[in-house]
Amino acid sequence: MILSKELRKKYIEFFKEKGHQEIPSASLVPENDPTVLFTTAGMHPLVPYLLGELHPEGKRLVNVQKCVRTGDIDDVGDSTHNTFFEMLGNWSLGDYFKKDSIHWSFEFLTNQKWLGINPEKIKVTVFKGDDDAPKDEESIQIWQECFSKLGASSEVFDKEKKNNKAARIFPLPKEDNWWGPAGQTGPCGPDTEIFIDLGKSVNFANCPNGDDCKPGCHCGRYIEIWNNVFMQYNKTSTGKYIPLVQKNVDTGMGMERTLAILNDFDNIYETDLLAPIIAKIKTLLCCHGEDEVQNNSVATHNESDDGIVTLRSAPLTMTVQDVKSTKIISDHIRTSVFMIADSVLPSNLDRGYILRRLLRRAIRHGNLLKLSNGFLSPVVETVIDIYKEFYPELEKNKDKILDEIRKEEEKFEKALERGLKEFDRYVQTVILDGKITLEEKEMKLHQAPKEMSSEAVFKLITTFGFPIELIIEEAKARGLIVNLDMVDSMIQKHQELSRTASAGKFKGGLADCSEETTRLHTTAHLLLESLRRVLGEHVFQKGSNITAERLRFDFSHPNKLTDVQRQKVEDLVNEQIKRNLPVQMEEMSLEEAKENGAMGVFESKYGEKVKVYTIGNKDTGIFSKEICGGPHIKNTSELGKFKIKKEESSSSGIRRIKAILG
Ligand code: SER
Repeated sequence: MILSKELRKKYIEFFKEKGHQEIPSASLVPENDPTVLFTTAGMHPLVPYLLGELHPEGKRLVNVQKCVRTGDIDDVGDSTHNTFFEMLGNWSLGDYFKKDSIHWSFEFLTNQKWLGINPEKIKVTVFKGDDDAPKDEESIQIWQECFSKLGASSEVFDKEKKNNKAARIFPLPKEDNWWGPAGQTGPCGPDTEIFIDLGKSVNFANCPNGDDCKPGCHCGRYIEIWNNVFMQYNKTSTGKYIPLVQKNVDTGMGMERTLAILNDFDNIYETDLLAPIIAKIKTLLCCHGEDEVQNNSVATHNESDDGIVTLRSAPLTMTVQDVKSTKIISDHIRTSVFMIADSVLPSNLDRGYILRRLLRRAIRHGNLLKLSNGFLSPVVETVIDIYKEFYPELEKNKDKILDEIRKEEEKFEKALERGLKEFDRYVQTVILDGKITLEEKEMKLHQAPKEMSSEAVFKLITTFGFPIELIIEEAKARGLIVNLDMVDSMIQKHQELSRTASAGKFKGGLADCSEETTRLHTTAHLLLESLRRVLGEHVFQKGSNITAERLRFDFSHPNKLTDVQRQKVEDLVNEQIKRNLPVQMEEMSLEEAKENGAMGVFESKYGEKVKVYTIGNKDTGIFSKEICGGPHIKNTSELGKFKIKKEESSSSGIRRIKAILG
């Protein structure tokens, strides 16, 4: 069996041999980027460097990055999807490009010294071209060299041809073979994706594409393990693709999927990263924590005085749904553990809400498996044990992680039970009229699904804390459907619920630029200028982090602010808000921006043209001018009341302000 530890080591070693420097995994919470909630790929923390800023470790980088993507949450429980995963990545920051990238990927995958995968099993896709960018002929040619060298066919799929059996290289459109930007704007480009062909087997007999099944088909025959992105463009806020001066390579290989392939496992839950979590849940499931489970069988044990455990096996029967529930719990708890270690806490807003819904869904699936209350703690400990060697933050925050998850469990367990009763009562009285026989009920449930009333959905959300997708899941199991638009408008009417709790915001790990974050973004500009006016011109922005709830702003200044200074800064920001100053954007070259006196926070990361946001105009007087990607509000009158909640040290010579808009 190839362990995750060995794969990590081999990957890093290989790319170090090719001149790469290893960099640590960044936090799951992206710094300085209000447009995404979580780090979704290894390239994410590298955006400034992909845009031209010099990386202190050089132009060739390699790492293993922890990532969260919740867009595929409905697929969790199948063989390849997770909400948390590790990405093995290597980057060229304006250094090597397609040729080296593809050759090295191929070498790492096929060479016996490294992964030794049979090249016959590998199929690749490339970008087929459209109005924004041409077909990636260069990648096709490089792949052909690679495959031919090892005597494998290197045919390009051609839909005009009758027989494409030997096709190995598949040109596909933007939906499949284009990556990025990670947020709404930024570096992106065509990619080439590497798939492992599991071959035709009975499992894929139901493939909707039959003999035409090819990479990109979702039947499960082809598993994508690696994506090499050739970042040649910067997508602007107007949707244009501007060629980047610096051409980069950004690759990402999925740790769990690759491990499963290397070990001939059917699914990622058999890998050493997830199997122990599944085993722990099974232990709790069958034996109330006293016995051990091995290979799907319960093993009751007797412990002798010297601690030696003897096992006696008995079969463990699990339905398909039970197996899916154990997978969902293990996935969601693993993600939750990593989120809390990176300072996300359960709440009703943005990141905190994503965490809360993962925990609550895990609790519901524990309840479906009839696991006793408080079952999550041993699962959490198992996750920490698996990962602590590589992510010391887990062990360091162990108490906090256990505590937060326990609190959420306590909070939701009772509400869940009551909520489910309410759900059943609703089905009984409203949908089934309460009087029908069991048979009639069965029949009714199999008729066209009925829509739940938005009042019933709303009550489950507000009174029982049910996340909407849990309601959808439960509704489906009872032959009902939920009308998201109606629920959404009902939630909007009730101000006590946060916008994030509204149905439309459930999909996807990427937040749109919500109104709140946009307002705080503009506030950050007012704050920087106010700090400079009150404290002096030595003040520069050193970082910021915006959630829908608050603005965190780091700036250079040696001392704690006095009460008077703090008040002055707050007043100055509020004055600008009251003055109803217009906010305007102009695009210009970096040189022009500097000549215009615009503040540039991360100057060197910008391309040729930059956006400059000006608060105030000739008539009102200009208050602030900053180079910034946006987005911003139109007028400071939209900001409400500014309040500094906290002022503290961030690191040596850097102060940190936490502020809100009332
Ligand atoms: N950014 C690309 C991806 O996430 C390659 O790392 O697939």
